[in-house]
Amino acid sequence: MYKLVLIRHGESTWNLENRFTGWTDVELTATGVEQARQAGRLLKEAGYEFDVAYTSVLKRAIHTLNHCLDTMDRDWLPVVKDWRLNERHYGGLQGLNKADMAKQYGDAQVLVWRRSYDTPPPSLESDDPRGQRQDPRYARLAPEQIPLTECLKDTVARVLPCWNEAIAPAIKAGQRIVLAAHGNSIRALVKYLDNIGDDDIVGVNIPNGIPLVYELDADLKPIKSYYLGDAEAAAKAAAAVASQGKA
Ligand code: 3PG
Repeated sequence: MYKLVLIRHGESTWNLENRFTGWTDVELTATGVEQARQAGRLLKEAGYEFDVAYTSVLKRAIHTLNHCLDTMDRDWLPVVKDWRLNERHYGGLQGLNKADMAKQYGDAQVLVWRRSYDTPPPSLESDDPRGQRQDPRYARLAPEQIPLTECLKDTVARVLPCWNEAIAPAIKAGQRIVLAAHGNSIRALVKYLDNIGDDDIVGVNIPNGIPLVYELDADLKPIKSYYLGDAEAAAKAAAAVASQGKA
């Protein structure tokens, strides 16, 4: 049996301001740092050890991982940073307030933008300063690989190659992995691992900074999954994420 630990980053400045973030590279808040440290404490107390860590190229996930590993006294672990674990690109919604959008367009429309499997939010123009086509961290990608918007289906389409090429083979080779990423890149993985249907994934929300443990069989099929620590608190935190898009 294998174990895989997924952690959504701690609260970011734009989580606090309730703004669509996507590929915008915002910092953790003090609460977010504490959530990351608490994740590290939970993992340490439960005796978790890792061989390698994965994260995105966005600092809210990278710093969450760093704080978590520092709390575990495992700062020295090798870390792979892969853009394919980035948050879903939120297109033209990036920077806008989620509740304001719900007031303007209605809760149902915002739910479609946030949670539908295959309807992307409005696209950015390719020269929009909120886009990433001039960002040096993506310089090795072809322009068309750098999204101007993404639905969850698009996110799955880039997360899964990362899983299949890098993460799954590493797990099968016996590497114990912790992965710090984002609400929707983790939803993409959860959808795949748990084989969740396109309609049912709408109801899945990932709370900030709580380790989500997957126990996997030899074929990497989930035996069970659970949040470490207080299950009720994790459920409440997930429900609070769901509510962020309501007027
Ligand atoms: C964002 O990019 O705005 C958040 O990290 C995830 O947002 P969501 O919960 O609205 O999808």
